[in-house]
Amino acid sequence: MAADVPGTIPVQLVEQPRLQKLKEMFISKFGSAPKFYVRAPGRVNLIGEHIDYCGYAVLPMAIEQDILIAVEPVKTQVVQLANTNSLYLDFSTSVNNIQINKTKPQWHNYFLCGLKGIQEHFGLNNPTGMNCLLDGTIPPSSGLSSSSALVCCAGLVTLRANGKTLSKVELAEICTKSERYIGTEGGGMDQSISFLAEEGALLSKSKGLDWEKTLRLHDVQTKLGVSLEEMLTIVEEVLHPEPYSTEEICKCLGISLEELRSQILSQNTQDVSTFKLYQRAKHVYSEAARVLEFKKICNEAPANAIQLLGELMNQSYISCREMYECSCPELDRLVDICLQFGAIGSRLTGAGWGGCTVSMVPTDKLNTFLKNVKEAYYQTNIQRLALENNSLFATKPGRGALVFVEA
Ligand code: GLA
Repeated sequence: MAADVPGTIPVQLVEQPRLQKLKEMFISKFGSAPKFYVRAPGRVNLIGEHIDYCGYAVLPMAIEQDILIAVEPVKTQVVQLANTNSLYLDFSTSVNNIQINKTKPQWHNYFLCGLKGIQEHFGLNNPTGMNCLLDGTIPPSSGLSSSSALVCCAGLVTLRANGKTLSKVELAEICTKSERYIGTEGGGMDQSISFLAEEGALLSKSKGLDWEKTLRLHDVQTKLGVSLEEMLTIVEEVLHPEPYSTEEICKCLGISLEELRSQILSQNTQDVSTFKLYQRAKHVYSEAARVLEFKKICNEAPANAIQLLGELMNQSYISCREMYECSCPELDRLVDICLQFGAIGSRLTGAGWGGCTVSMVPTDKLNTFLKNVKEAYYQTNIQRLALENNSLFATKPGRGALVFVEA
C-alpha cells in the first residue's frame, strides 16, 4: 500500500475482489483493461443540518458505500460511460462538447459535471477521451449523497486521466461548484438559503450593521463579535415568531418589493409571501452550537459521552422538525421507531423532506436493532419492503476518495 501524503488523494494498489470483478466486466465491455480505478464514498451527516451554507461547521462522516469507476484513457476524444447496473444506460459524448441536461437528471449528467469542472479549472483545450465503467453501492435518492459522490469521482477520474494534480480541498471546491451545472441549486435548498439570507438581512439591520453586506447568519455573528448563545438572545429580542410578510420585511429594511425580489429573493422564492425568520434563525444558531458541543464531547470523552452525543442528535432532529420544518411523516416515524428499539440518538440527515435518518446504536444492540427496525418500518409497507435490502445498514466512519492502480 502506498503511503498517504496529507492533503492529497491517496493511491493504493488494486487488491480487492470487487476491483478484480470490475476489471473483468470492463474488459468484456470495452475489449481492453482499465488503467486505474477511482472511488468516492457517500456521506451521512452526524449533526449540523442546514447550516453549512450559513457559514457554520458541520460534522459529516464518509460511509463505506461508494462509487467506484474503472478508467482507461483513450486516444479518441470521446468519453464512453457504462454502469454495472443495467438500469443505467450507456452514454457517450465528445469531450469537447459537454452538454449537461438540467431538465433530465440522468446518471451520466452527474459524471459530466465533474468532468466539466476539471476541464474548466485547467482550461484543458485537448482533454483526453476515456472509457469508464461505474459500480455504485450507495442507495440512490436516499439522502446519502450518491450524486455528489459521482460528481467527485468523475472529477478525480478526469484529473488523473489528464495527468493533473490538485489537493483534496481544491478538488472538493471544484466539485461543489461543478455540481451546480445540473441545477441542484434550483431545489428546496435554494429556498432555504434565501429564507436565511433574509434573516441575516433583518438581524444585521436591527443591530446597525450594513445589512446588504451581512446576509449570512454567520457573518452577523462575526460582525457583532458575540457567542452563539448571545445570538439566540438577539433572535428572541429582534425577531417575532409570527411569520413575516414580504411587506413587513420591505418596511423593516426600507426597501421596495422590487428591491426585495431582485436583491434578496432567489428565482424560486419570488412568489413566497410569508417567511418564518425567527424559527429558521433559531435553528441555525442552536444547531451551530450543537455541532461545537458535539465536537467538544468527542474531544473530552467524558464517561457519559455517548448519552450526551445522542441527546444532541435528538435535539438536532427536533429543531429540524419544529424550527426548520425539513422533516416529513416518514422520517418522523422512522426516528420514533429507531429510538424505540435502542438508538441512543436518531435524526434526519441531509437536506430532509425525505431521504434518510442516522442513528447512534451500541454495537451489542445492533443486530436486534436492525431486525426490529426492519419489522416495524419496512415489513409493514410493501413499497418500503422493496427498498429494505440496501436501505437499512450499519456503517462505521469510512475513508475518503482514493485512486487504485495495478502493481
Ligand atoms: C444537502 C446539501 C448540503 C447541506 C444539507 C443540509 O445535502 O447538499 O450542503 O446543506 O443538504 O444540511
